[in-house]
Amino acid sequence: MLKNTHMSGLDPKLDKIDSLMTADQNRDMFNYIAPHYDGANRILSIGLDQRWRRQAVKRLESNAGHLYLDVGCGTGDISFEIVRQDPKARVIGIDSSRGMLEIGWTKIRRYGVESQVSFREGDCLDLEFPDNTFDRAISVFCVRNVTDHNRAFSEIVRVLKQEAKLVIMELTEPDGPIMKPLFRIYSKTVMPFVTKIMSSVSAYKYLAASMAAFPKPDQIKGAMIGAGMIDVQYSQMTGGIVTVYEGYKTGNKS
Ligand SMILES: C[S@@+](CC[C@H](N)C(=O)[O-])C[C@H]1O[C@@H](n2cnc3c(N)ncnc32)[C@H](O)[C@@H]1O
Repeated sequence: MLKNTHMSGLDPKLDKIDSLMTADQNRDMFNYIAPHYDGANRILSIGLDQRWRRQAVKRLESNAGHLYLDVGCGTGDISFEIVRQDPKARVIGIDSSRGMLEIGWTKIRRYGVESQVSFREGDCLDLEFPDNTFDRAISVFCVRNVTDHNRAFSEIVRVLKQEAKLVIMELTEPDGPIMKPLFRIYSKTVMPFVTKIMSSVSAYKYLAASMAAFPKPDQIKGAMIGAGMIDVQYSQMTGGIVTVYEGYKTGNKS
């Protein structure tokens, strides 16, 4: 379990969970920042966020007409990218923040993909779907916010079909000799400035702290294997700011 060194002392419940916030605090934060989320993402990532999403969806090795689960779908950009790459796809997104989903529902209508994409309120620690339902699952920039990574992975693996693929993408604090100091400067200058204009300073503090506190890639890989995945690999993008994990549910094809 991740130790909440940054915040411990503020709320005793935080010592028992993997994230820096309780689920309620996290939901409130995303409800609050939802109207600014897409714009802040584009600016903070200097437009790279959509490229990262395209790469994450590519790793799913889409096959025409699959049923996909988008975990922590937020305002929906991963689900829309899935449909772009697999025009026959059916996608169900789940998210715990109604504010984020409301933006997503508007985008479903704007893009005219009502027959293929649907978003529902839900918690990835307790998925409403039966075992072995989905052909693919993906979760982008969500796991960092979840209070129990192991349980989230177990739930996602449970609802995947045997041998189906899971892709996880997360922001990470870069470790390299060039990117680490560059990122530190960026996180102390650009990030607070942009988030102050777009939404809230506390959301910026949380973003930077949660990136620093997120477990190292080998730990996340271990958690995915522990949840019943095989052939788990990870690779880093943009100097280590983003890590993408991919693997398959173990077992015989159903
Ligand atoms: C940083 S956003 C990422 C949204 C989207 N995947 C994207 O690519 O922009 C993280 C999302 O995870 C959601 N989330 C956090 N904890 C969750 C949980 N336990 N179950 C479902 N969604 C959760 C948040 O509400 C938020 O919309």
